[in-house]
Amino acid sequence: MSGKRIKKAVIPAAGMGTRFLPATKAQPKEMLPIVDKPTIQYVVEEAVAAGIEDILIITGRNKRAIEDHFDHCVEIEATLQARGKEEELKMVRDISAMVDIHYVRQKEPLGLGHAVYCARKFVGSEPFAVLLGDDIINSDVPCIRQLIDVYEERGGTVLGVQHVDWNDVHKYGIVSSYSTNGPICRVGSLVEKPLREKAPSNLAVLGRYVIEPEIFAVLEQTQPGSGGEIQLTDALNELAQSRPVWAYTFTGKRYDVGDKLGFLEATVEYALRRDDLARGFADYLRRLVREDPHLR
Ligand code: G1P
Repeated sequence: MSGKRIKKAVIPAAGMGTRFLPATKAQPKEMLPIVDKPTIQYVVEEAVAAGIEDILIITGRNKRAIEDHFDHCVEIEATLQARGKEEELKMVRDISAMVDIHYVRQKEPLGLGHAVYCARKFVGSEPFAVLLGDDIINSDVPCIRQLIDVYEERGGTVLGVQHVDWNDVHKYGIVSSYSTNGPICRVGSLVEKPLREKAPSNLAVLGRYVIEPEIFAVLEQTQPGSGGEIQLTDALNELAQSRPVWAYTFTGKRYDVGDKLGFLEATVEYALRRDDLARGFADYLRRLVREDPHLR
């Protein structure tokens, strides 16, 4: 094992969610549910399943509901107890007991790089995990655990990547030069949201990172890039010039729940994976395919 143990994770959740208006006008996009669970809970559960002990959520204005969700809810717990609803009571209590969650506010929306920079005091001098809430990943081994395993073997910084459709490269941080064979490659450089015509590859960073603390010194100097924002990708590109950065093609299906179509896909597929819903929902979908003119 070459790396230190990864105990801390950072979940940036300060974005305004403009792609999901009006649903996100008065509630954080991270609280939109996939079936019956807020998206951010899937991300927290992934971190916990990977052995993370402390989580820092970077919030912004309008994000109180996230803190409330991971806190005790005295009224609900008392009501469930009085009604003898043991199962629901356990579910509600488990959410607040899952892990230690800390919060810091990003006071201005200056970009993902700046949001991660807000975590520097929490992180200190240890390597840490970053999980973006717009990406939900269904896999046997939690995606961030897969990255931690690579980190423990090789050290350095590890980015979770997969090939995406060429028409979508402008949405992602793209690995632009690398030496490879197999699922792990050494990153030469990265570029944030390139135009399709200029994209050097379609190998995209999909919201999961294990990062060395050296990133903070780089972020301190990083100038605004794509979209006028301080980009984590630009800082990682800089880091890759002096330290090893690995791109790891993780195993699992990733859903872009920050996108309306991705959100719907996740909703349908997660419902079909649920024992209590799969049968009835599958019957309904079959009927719909037979009868709905849009599906013929
Ligand atoms: C962010 C990152 C980008 C990454 C993407 C993954 O972009 O800046 O590098 O590929 O998440 O989903 P955003 O989707 O926040 O614009």
